[in-house]
Amino acid sequence: MGDCMRQIPTGIDGLDKMLNGGLPAGRSILLIGNPGSGKTILSFQFLCYGAIHDEPGLYVSLDEDIKLLKEELVGFNWNINKLEETRKLALIDASPVRHIPGEVKIGDYRIGKRDFSLFSLIEIIRNHAEKINAKRIVIDPLASLILQYEDAAERRNATLDLLEALAKLGTTNIITTELKALTLQREVLVEEFLSHGVIVLHSWRSQFLAHGGIQIEKMRGIAHDNQIRPYKITSRGIEVFAEEEPLVDVDKTAFVPQRSP
Ligand SMILES: Nc1ncnc2c1ncn2[C@@H]1O[C@H](COP(=O)(O)OP(=O)(O)OP(=O)(O)O)[C@@H](O)[C@H]1O
Ligand SMILES: [Mg+2]
Repeated sequence: MGDCMRQIPTGIDGLDKMLNGGLPAGRSILLIGNPGSGKTILSFQFLCYGAIHDEPGLYVSLDEDIKLLKEELVGFNWNINKLEETRKLALIDASPVRHIPGEVKIGDYRIGKRDFSLFSLIEIIRNHAEKINAKRIVIDPLASLILQYEDAAERRNATLDLLEALAKLGTTNIITTELKALTLQREVLVEEFLSHGVIVLHSWRSQFLAHGGIQIEKMRGIAHDNQIRPYKITSRGIEVFAEEEPLVDVDKTAFVPQRSP
């Protein structure tokens, strides 16, 4: 690859070190992790860092009520409300697109519920992104939308449509998905083969902190660290220890054993 790919910092120092500067600009990155691993927190660090560096961000929730989400994030001092007021950040609840009943008629066309939900999601994203001139977008989590397609080919097409729409916006995007690998084959997560890069949060719980290992599984065009480096979640957000010893490769289909204290 040439050396001309522009990279944008996530704002998480250790992760930016692992990425040799940051995420590839204008691309979509898949962020995979278990519930509670820190996907939403990492996403907000990415957006808030952008927001204070002249790169407005759009957060698209497919799962959680925005009001509840804000309550969960209130301890992090990211000034989310202030950033919203100044239009550096927008949070939208797109979860209703999952609940549209039956068929929808648009002009002469009758389209199925699923196609409509994807179609309207893309429209919602485009509208809001234009309103704030978004440079960064997070879709959190994708799985709830994509899992309504039972057929692998349909899932693939839906994912492609979404990624294509995002690519047209020219924004740098993080799309999160739950690691259901404990019960589901990793291969079922077709999205990862279609995105430009994949970051995985391998997480487990100790008594006090959620912590684990972060790994850049793939990032096209970037010479990145491919080891699993420790991270932890504190009141400042996710902290990545890029200089620490890598964690031994974990079995991705099994629970990660608890690290000794
Ligand atoms: N101030 C804090 N200090 C330490 N850990 C915290 C703090 N606030 C939240 N956490 C941890 O962060 C985790 C939640 O992170 P986050 O919501 O980003 O996870 P997630 O991957 O988005 O989960 P889900 O799949 O359920 O949406 C919890 O496990 C919680 O223990
Ligand atoms: Mg979350």
